[in-house]
Amino acid sequence: MTETPSPRLRAGMVGGGEGADIGKTHRAGMNLDGRYELTAGVFGRDHTASSRMGADLGVPADRIYRDHEDMAAGESSRPDGIDVAVVVTPNDSHFDVTRAFLSRGISVVCEKPLTLHADDARELVRIAADNDAILAVPHCYSAYAMVREAAHRVRGGELGDIRFVSVEHASGWAARPLEQGEHRQARWRTDPDIGGSASVVADLGTHALHLLRFVTGQEPTAVSAQLDTLVPDRAVFDNATMRVALTGGAQASLWASMAATGNPHGLRIRVFGSRAALEWDHHDPTRLRIRDHDGVETVLNQGSPRLSIEAGRLTRAGLGHPEGFLEAFANFYADLADALTAHRDGLDAPVRELSFPTGRDGLIGVEFVAAVLDSHDRAGAPVATTNLTGVPA
Ligand SMILES: NC(=O)c1ccc[n+]([C@@H]2O[C@H](COP(=O)([O-])OP(=O)(O)OC[C@H]3O[C@@H](n4cnc5c(N)ncnc54)[C@H](O)[C@@H]3O)[C@@H](O)[C@H]2O)c1
Repeated sequence: MTETPSPRLRAGMVGGGEGADIGKTHRAGMNLDGRYELTAGVFGRDHTASSRMGADLGVPADRIYRDHEDMAAGESSRPDGIDVAVVVTPNDSHFDVTRAFLSRGISVVCEKPLTLHADDARELVRIAADNDAILAVPHCYSAYAMVREAAHRVRGGELGDIRFVSVEHASGWAARPLEQGEHRQARWRTDPDIGGSASVVADLGTHALHLLRFVTGQEPTAVSAQLDTLVPDRAVFDNATMRVALTGGAQASLWASMAATGNPHGLRIRVFGSRAALEWDHHDPTRLRIRDHDGVETVLNQGSPRLSIEAGRLTRAGLGHPEGFLEAFANFYADLADALTAHRDGLDAPVRELSFPTGRDGLIGVEFVAAVLDSHDRAGAPVATTNLTGVPA
């Protein structure tokens, strides 16, 4: 008997227009497994350019909308309306755009930081729950096979008790004042009204925080922070050093920077336990290194048959074939597709040990940014990070 294939999920996109950065990565991630079709969008604020882009992407002209409100209203009134809206606009519009879809029961993938203000993030999580919609936040690093392997091993106790964690997302992409030229991404990220004044913490620090939480399975309870502006005349903080207390009693250091000269991407986590230590580095993402007390190192390679079911499930090409950022986005979208398809078809979603980040993770990130700013204002005094009282799971 042949199984009838499940119809593809209909996706819409807000942002990701000509010259935009991350929208194209989302589209590549969605396309890799063929489980989504892009059927609607607002690809930028300029309708002419948006229409051109939409046409290139094969989106029907009547589903290229003038703005997100039009799109949310139009799509929610169609019998074949989108199953999910992907929000890849700069940070200051995340709240309004995401709310427009969630409040009409349309699921959303919203880029990080979920919002600029914690109350707004909390409201989005509530609106999603009230309208039976899925809210996902693409902290894509948690979808690398070897990060899943790290989480499986650390949470399973392989390192013993966790004593200390060092995590950094310290990039050198803006170690020069790019915003003084035409660099579009630098311009909005260094505008406090769009990127937030703790810009680098919202931008890269939230990824590092999620990686820390995902690998250890522990939550931040308090943070002490110092924010700096390393590039002269910059209007936001571009470097942040933080000490984070974790629920398990251990401490972590978290460094977020966009001014770490010469670092291409700079994302790395090291977990030190009572029995062993583990390291994953985004510059070598298909390998995980585990060291014992004597410094003897075991290198685990993606695709090895000795890895967990989670890592195996997310490995596409196999041992010796490098995978990276695009495959991680595809993994995020594959896990999400399982949840969205089950939701659409009224079935139970698969229960997994580890899966995609949700609005709750987005909220924890936004709360963290607020606590960092607060701590910095109090000369580095520890500030409680997360208040999840009353937040839907
Ligand atoms: N997950 C990741 O790894 C990752 C990486 C890069 C960026 N991001 C996040 O993605 C978001 C976008 O970042 P980017 O670097 O791609 O920005 P970008 O400036 O390159 O692109 C933003 C796009 O949104 C469009 N836009 C702006 N306002 C809009 C609106 N109201 N309606 C429709 N379109 C609108 C712009 O025209 C542009 O096409 C940010 O929130 C950023 O933090 C995430």
